[in-house]
This record gives sequence, structure tokens and C-alpha cells, in this order.
Amino acid sequence: MGNVVILDHPLIKHKLTFIRDKNTGSKDFRELVKEVSMLMAYEVTRNLPLEEIEIETPITKMKSQVISGKKVGLVPILRAGLGMVDGMLNLIPAAKVGHIGLYRDPETLKPVEYYCKLPQDIEERELIVLDPMLATGGSAVAAIQFLKERGATSIKLVCLIAAPEGIEEVEKSHPDVDIYVAGVDEKLNDHAYIIPGLGDAGDRLFGTK
Ligand code: PRP
Ligand code: URA
Repeated sequence: MGNVVILDHPLIKHKLTFIRDKNTGSKDFRELVKEVSMLMAYEVTRNLPLEEIEIETPITKMKSQVISGKKVGLVPILRAGLGMVDGMLNLIPAAKVGHIGLYRDPETLKPVEYYCKLPQDIEERELIVLDPMLATGGSAVAAIQFLKERGATSIKLVCLIAAPEGIEEVEKSHPDVDIYVAGVDEKLNDHAYIIPGLGDAGDRLFGTK
């Protein structure tokens, strides 16, 4: 079973409060999502593999560690996942970025794919799927499934807010995937929105609706 890691650092909790607040406008919402994503990146990358290289300090030669292997791949789920990319790139600027376009059909609430463009060699990369909201889990399960069908072997999922239903769904379908969240909320409402949540993440990020 994958781990669920709740990142409850005081800075993350503080910023998440203002992300949730309905009086926070798009500009501040975007900035806060970026800041929280950057803080989350620090923990999500904790287990990246390292290798030793030899360098020379002004005093002497020494062996020191650098991150090894292929560059990390960030995979935001469009649209709302885009809001998390820049914060992550602040800490892992060399990461490749792939995109998966999914929207929830408002009738069926099931995810529909409309775009997919991924970095090469995804089977050799650590992939980090980004989506602020894990509600029913349908979008995340589908995105992870697409990545696996295209060869991905190492996937983490990073969300700001998750409903217990979404976590359960991802754990059931993809037990190998670790989930990182800033907050786990109470439940879903009848329209599959997270309660208390933050509303519609895509609309709040991009000022639509
Ligand atoms: C939202 C959100 C997730 C999805 C979560 O996207 O960003 O992708 O819903 O819901 P689920 O866990 O029940 O699948 P939405 O479909 O609203 O599209 P958008 O990002 O383009 O606004
Ligand atoms: N998508 C959102 O943007 N918000 C929710 O609460 C659920 C799905």
C-alpha cells in the first residue's frame, strides 16, 4: 500500500487557510498555491537517489553528493495542476514537465482525457503528478493509469486537499503510489466537491466562472 503523507508544517497550514478563504482573490490564490507547492516539493523529493562525485573545494579534493539519474518529471493535470508547477520548479528547476488534460464530465463526474504530452523516457524518471484537488479520485486514478500505460514505474501524487473518498480510490487502484497532501478534509458533497475544501480550484486559479 502506498503511503499517505500529510504535510502539516505550520507554514503550509497557514497558507492553506488563506487558499481556502473565499475572500482570497485569484492573484493571491495563485501565489499561495505556488508557495505551498514549493514547500511540498521539499518533502516530496526527500528520497531522490544520490550519487557521489569528486569536486575540488578551494582547500582540497573531496567526494560529495548530487542527485543521480534522469531528471524528475512533473505532470500537472490540466487545468488546476498548472498552478502547482512553478512552485515545484523553484526547487527542482531541471525537472521536465508533461501535461495530461482531463476534465470531470459534470453529468457522470468521470474524467475525460483531452490532452497528453509527456517527456521522453518516462519509465526511467521519478514522476510527480500534480493536482490541487483529490475529490472522488477519478482524475488522479485515470492520470496515473495513463502514465503507467505509457511505461511509468515510479509515480507520486501531490495534492493540496484530499477527500477520504479520493485517497481510498487511489490507494485501491494504485497501491504503489505515495500520496502527499497538505490537508485531508471531511467528505464530498452531492456534486463531488470537497467539504469544506476551497471550491473549484481551476476557476479560482484562473478567474473563470
Ligand atoms: C478538478 C480538479 C481535479 C478534479 C478532482 O478538475 O483539479 O482534476 O476536479 O476531482 P475528482 O477527484 O473527482 O476527479 P476539473 O475537472 O474541475 O477541471 P479543471 O482543472 O480544468 O478546472
Ligand atoms: N474539483 C475542485 O476543483 N474542487 C473540488 O472540491 C472537487 C473537485
